[in-house]
Amino acid sequence: MIFYTYICFLLHILIISSLQQKSLLGNTIRKELSKFQCDIHDFTSTYKNEFQESPFRNRSIKEITASWQSTFPEGNYRTNTKNSIPFSRMNLREPDTILRMAEYQAMIYCKSTMVGAPSDISSIRNMAKKNLRVGNFTIEATGFDRKRVSYWYIASNIAQQSIILVHRGTKTSNPSDVFDDLDRFNIHNSHGLLNRDFSYLSSSKDVYVDSGFYQRFQHEKTAIVSALRPVLSRYSNPAFSFIVVGHSLGASWAFLNAAYFASQNDINQRMSAIYTFGQPLLGSAAFVNEITKKLNTPNERYVRVVNRNDMVPHIGCGKCIQPEYATEKWIMNTNEVVWKDCDGGKDLKCSSGIPCNKLSWSNHSAVGKLSMRGEFCRIASNS
Ligand SMILES: *[C@@H]1O[C@H](CO)[C@@H](O)[C@H](O)[C@H]1NC(C)=O
Ligand SMILES: *[C@@H]1O[C@H](CO)[C@@H](O)[C@H](O)[C@H]1NC(C)=O
Ligand SMILES: *[C@@H]1O[C@H](CO)[C@@H](O)[C@H](O)[C@H]1NC(C)=O
Repeated sequence: MIFYTYICFLLHILIISSLQQKSLLGNTIRKELSKFQCDIHDFTSTYKNEFQESPFRNRSIKEITASWQSTFPEGNYRTNTKNSIPFSRMNLREPDTILRMAEYQAMIYCKSTMVGAPSDISSIRNMAKKNLRVGNFTIEATGFDRKRVSYWYIASNIAQQSIILVHRGTKTSNPSDVFDDLDRFNIHNSHGLLNRDFSYLSSSKDVYVDSGFYQRFQHEKTAIVSALRPVLSRYSNPAFSFIVVGHSLGASWAFLNAAYFASQNDINQRMSAIYTFGQPLLGSAAFVNEITKKLNTPNERYVRVVNRNDMVPHIGCGKCIQPEYATEKWIMNTNEVVWKDCDGGKDLKCSSGIPCNKLSWSNHSAVGKLSMRGEFCRIASNS
C-alpha cells in the first residue's frame, strides 16, 4: 500500500512538472496540486491511523458502557423498551433505526474470549442477553475468512420481525485493507460481464466497478445466498423484513450483495432495507446510480450513513463517485450529534462539502457516539 501511494506521488510530481514545462495555464496545475495535497493528506492520515495506538483500545467496561448509554437521548438504556418493535414499524431513516443496525454491525467485530477459538460467534450470541437495541436475536448462519475470523452473519429476530445480513469491514488492525482492495483495475460492463450478477445494468464501458470489491462479493456470493434462502423461507411471514448491513469494505460488499439480490426476484421481494456505514467509492457514476435506482424502486430502501469527517467514503477507484440520489444520512461534523438528510452524493452541505484536508480516519468506526469497534461487545450486561 505504501509503495503504491509512493508511486502515485511520483506520478503526480511527473504530471505537475511536465505541465509546468509546457507552461500550461495555472488552472490545471492548481487542480493537480490540490489533488496531490489531498493524496498526501490521505496517506499521512492513514499512516498515522495504522501506527498509532487507538485511544479506544484500553477503555474500561464502565467507560464503554457509559459511552454507549449516551447514544440514548434519555441517557439510560436500562429503560430501553424499543428493542421489540418490528422493523417494518420503524422509520427507515430515523437515528433509532440506524443505531439498531449499527449495533448489529458492531457485533461482527466481537472478539472471542477463548484463546485460539476459531470464531467469535459465542461472544456475539452473548449480546442477545444484554437488552441492547438488537434485542433478542438468533444467529442463523455465519461465514469466516481465511483466518477463520467472522466475515458475515445472518441473524433473525422474532420480536423485531427481521432477518439481518451483516458484512464485516476493515479490521482495526489493518486499515489499509481499504487501499488493498482498491485501485487495481476496474471491471467494465461493455461486454455484459456484470449482467450475469446485475441483470438490469446497461451494457456500457461507462458502467464499471472496482475489481477488488467485486472479487470479494463474487467469492462469498454462493455461500451467502445458499445460507440466506433457507432462512427467508423459515420466516416466510411477509411481515418479516430482510435487511442488508455493512461497514467500510463490508459496506461496498453489502452494496454489491444488495445489488445482486435486487436481480433475484424471490430475494428482492423480501429485501426491505440496505444500510451502509462508511462506504468507500466503488464504482462509476453509471454503476452506482443504476444500482441505487433499482434498490430504491418502488420504495426507498438504501440508507448510506456517513459519520462526520470520515475519510473512507471519499476514497475509491478513479472517477468513482457516490450515487447522485438522496441516499446519504450524514452525522454532521460537529460536537453534538446532528443527523442530516442529504440531497445526493454531490450535496455540498453534506459530507461531500468537507475539504479533503479535514478528512480523517478517526470517526470511521463510529456512528455518532456509538462505537462500532470490538469494544462494543464488552458493554456491561443489563440484567
Ligand atoms: C493500554 O494499556 C497498556 C497496559 O495496560 C499500556 O501499556 C498502554 O500504554 C495503554 N495504551 C493506551 C493507548 O492507553
Ligand atoms: C429469544 O428468542 C428465542 C427465539 O428466537 C426464544 O426461544 C426465546 O424464548 C427468547 N428469549 C427471550 C428472553 O425472550
Ligand atoms: C470523532 O473525531 C473527533 C475528532 O475528529 C474525535 O475527537 C472523536 O473522539 C471521534 N469520535 C469517535 C466516536 O471516534
